[in-house]
Amino acid sequence: MTAVLGVDRVSKTFGERRALSELSFTIGRGEVYGLVGPNGAGKTTLINIACAVLAPDAGTVTLNGGAATPDAHARVGVASQEVALYRDLTSEQNLQFFASLYGLNGEGRARRVRTCLAEVGLEDRSDTTVSFLSGGMQRRLHIAAAMLHEPHLLILDEPTVGLDRESRHRIWRVVRDAADHGAGVLVTTHQLEEAEALCHRIGIIHEGRLVAEGSMDELRRHVAAAELAIIDAGDLGAVRDRADQLGLTHRTALAAVAVWLPERQSLDRVAASFSGIELRSVTLKPVGLEEVVAELTGGRQSEG
Ligand SMILES: Nc1ncnc2c1ncn2[C@@H]1O[C@H](COP(=O)(O)OP(=O)(O)OP(=O)(O)O)[C@@H](O)[C@H]1O
Ligand SMILES: [Mg+2]
Repeated sequence: MTAVLGVDRVSKTFGERRALSELSFTIGRGEVYGLVGPNGAGKTTLINIACAVLAPDAGTVTLNGGAATPDAHARVGVASQEVALYRDLTSEQNLQFFASLYGLNGEGRARRVRTCLAEVGLEDRSDTTVSFLSGGMQRRLHIAAAMLHEPHLLILDEPTVGLDRESRHRIWRVVRDAADHGAGVLVTTHQLEEAEALCHRIGIIHEGRLVAEGSMDELRRHVAAAELAIIDAGDLGAVRDRADQLGLTHRTALAAVAVWLPERQSLDRVAASFSGIELRSVTLKPVGLEEVVAELTGGRQSEG
């Protein structure tokens, strides 16, 4: 399969600071690929290299299986982490302007502007000056501007930061629609649940290196547990001690202990294993991206 985006052993250093180390991955047609990692991990640097804003020190980027020429870049749509719009123009005027940069004109351009405004839920704000849009609306308009020319590769750097729940779900729909229509999508996020729900494959980036990648099923293998028991108790130390006695791996979760169960067990059986300790709650849950990231990056998780 031809990769819409191919990143091959890309490295980048800023002065003394190594931002990316031999990073490689590919994104296929119709695939949503998520990059997750803490602040400073190198996500935006990678995106800047993928869209030729920055040159790598080493390694290559290919688009649609070929060289990343200006023509190939014309089929890439990017919404950067910082919203970049003309604040004194209206929503529609902004999109008209960006569409003209992509070479769209006439009725085709007008149609794409209307469609993209509607896709991000701003059809009733077409005449509003950008500086009078709320922050979340500006971010949505910024994403609409990246999609005007129906790109083969859509790159969204933290597209849902600051968006309310409904807007976030709308952007997820936009991303899925683009992929369903054959685009490859590269998205970064700090919301691990979002990455889990939205992405076909996820790359975990830590200090400039891709420490793991794959589907959620593949990533789960990095945590040697069939399931997790999240146990809340008055005395969490007692829960940890019992887990140690039972030979079970455990990690500190938010105000609870996450116990790794080597095989799936009934709630009754788990509770029985911790009998004699005053338990507040026991929840069984599958291993999530949160646990995988914590395991692979030494505990630094979502900061979003
Ligand atoms: N132009 C630059 N000059 C010097 N250092 C830079 C530059 N751009 C990025 N860096 C450094 O490279 C590293 C990676 O930064 P980058 O912006 O790629 O991280 P990120 O993963 O996008 O983080 P965030 O989640 O905060 O957006 C950081 O240490 C950052 O300080
Ligand atoms: Mg960034």
